[in-house]
Amino acid sequence: MKTYSTTASLRATLNAARRAGKTISFVPTMGNLHEGHLRLVRRARQLGDVVVVSIFVNPLQFGANEDLDSYPRTLAADKEKLFAEGVQCLFLPQVDEIYPEGMDLHSKVSVPDLSERHCGASRPGHFTGVTTIVNKLFNIVQPDSAVFGEKDFQQLSVIRKMVRDLCMPIDIVGVATARADDGLALSSRNGYLSDQHRRSAPVLHRVLQECREAIACGYDSYRELEQHAVLTLREAGFEPDYFAICDAGSLREVGPQTEEVVILVAAKLGSTRLIDNVTLNLNPSADWGMLATN
Ligand code: PAF
Repeated sequence: MKTYSTTASLRATLNAARRAGKTISFVPTMGNLHEGHLRLVRRARQLGDVVVVSIFVNPLQFGANEDLDSYPRTLAADKEKLFAEGVQCLFLPQVDEIYPEGMDLHSKVSVPDLSERHCGASRPGHFTGVTTIVNKLFNIVQPDSAVFGEKDFQQLSVIRKMVRDLCMPIDIVGVATARADDGLALSSRNGYLSDQHRRSAPVLHRVLQECREAIACGYDSYRELEQHAVLTLREAGFEPDYFAICDAGSLREVGPQTEEVVILVAAKLGSTRLIDNVTLNLNPSADWGMLATN
């Protein structure tokens, strides 16, 4: 595995690979890699001849009072994991390689509407930070495919929309959420949880599953289900940010056209903000395995 810290050096290698007829698959990350990230890397290895992983804790997607400074940085361990997975190229830029004139003067890419709902409403500017960096990384790497986790369902939707709107010739591939045995979605932020909060954290996924089962059984008072879920989370010690039953395509309210539902949740346990989601196909004939998945 070779590490690159500049756009020019990475591009020189990737241009040579492309000239040799190789395809490129890309996994952007912020590091502190866990099994969830490694599944993305394994999927990327199936998709392309050359796998590029980036590690960049992108300051543009963090709000003023968020965890940019304390975000876990575990570079040596990350490198070992990527090497063991057979990654060929690691892109590791410094902040001034990405934002040479500072973040305020850098051009921004934003996806309206989708970016403003749910997490976007409570973290203003967050998704513009994500789409700006992902767009820039796409332009640097010019991959054939890029792989993202479905845990960040809204992020994946926003990125797919950006790619569609801007006609980027990149196949965006989602990978199912990796979970601990008790159901908690793997996340770099789980490391912030106290022992007591770690024990309560799986309730988040349990509440999502209960809600999905209720919908699968025909319960369609979605507002009541949302309110019930919020109360259950509060009782378990969470401070819910939102719990929303939505159309999986638009992330708006479920309507007559909705074929797939996504149930999205964000909630704080202490100072740690956790997000998770489950999906449900409303077409029962296509959904036999539904209760066993996700
Ligand atoms: O999901 C993440 O880790 C980040 O939001 C991403 C996509 C690497 C952009 O910084």
